[in-house]
Amino acid sequence: MDLKDKIDLTRLPGHIAVIMDGNGRWAKNRGEVRVFGHRNGVEAVRQTATAAAELGIRHLTLYAFSTENWKRPKCEVDALMNLLVASLSSELGTLMDNNIRLKAIGDLCHLQKNCFAQLQETMAKTAGNTRMDLILALNYSGRWEITEAARKIAGDIEQGKITKNDVDQDLFSTYLDTSEIPDPELLIRTSGEYRISNFLLWQLAYAELCFSPKLWPDFRKDDLYEAILDYQHRERRFGMTSEQIKPLTNQ
Ligand code: FPP
Repeated sequence: MDLKDKIDLTRLPGHIAVIMDGNGRWAKNRGEVRVFGHRNGVEAVRQTATAAAELGIRHLTLYAFSTENWKRPKCEVDALMNLLVASLSSELGTLMDNNIRLKAIGDLCHLQKNCFAQLQETMAKTAGNTRMDLILALNYSGRWEITEAARKIAGDIEQGKITKNDVDQDLFSTYLDTSEIPDPELLIRTSGEYRISNFLLWQLAYAELCFSPKLWPDFRKDDLYEAILDYQHRERRFGMTSEQIKPLTNQ
């Protein structure tokens, strides 16, 4: 039986978030420069996105460039931006064929101009697609997003649009970049590192965490299926007891 056939399609996570890690080490293992790893990471992106769409996952968020990634050597940052622009253009066919809509979260206005323009173009061309949203986190960090939300809320209180008593978790969520996206139920991080790295800090509150030893360029459809199967074996309690959860899940 294939791994894919073992997945219970009635209990899929609606939203999977992925920290794609290990490109640099993958390249180093082959005596190549780091950018070689990023370039080979594109196939893993393609496989993960198509596998998720084929299964019926509604939202897939990939951490493609963090606010901290600007600290990398300029040649790597430039190469990553160029790769992103080239991939957004060359993968348009994959997105259309699989009925995937591209979205993005993060401080997009401060991306390099050509990257921002290509992103807008691909998002516009895929805007009518309905099977799955592929969300790229670009120039993104969880603390940046939460701080921005707090600043916008303060501004709206100052202008009298809301009062401080209106601020609760539901309202706060609407000020985040992900306001129209449900929280991820599953986070996958590759490369055997056990960190969140400032990714979706608010949204991951109740996510199941799955760590794969694979370096990102080696990640394939079966690795995604394995992570989903692992998720389906977890008991999600949301602060309740196992005894309280059982009757709810048997309904
Ligand atoms: C982390 O590996 C990876 C990144 C910071 C960039 C991810 C980018 C891609 C996979 C390129 C294509 C993306 C899209 C969406 C088309 P690392 O460099 O931190 O690896 P290391 O920990 O081994 O050094």
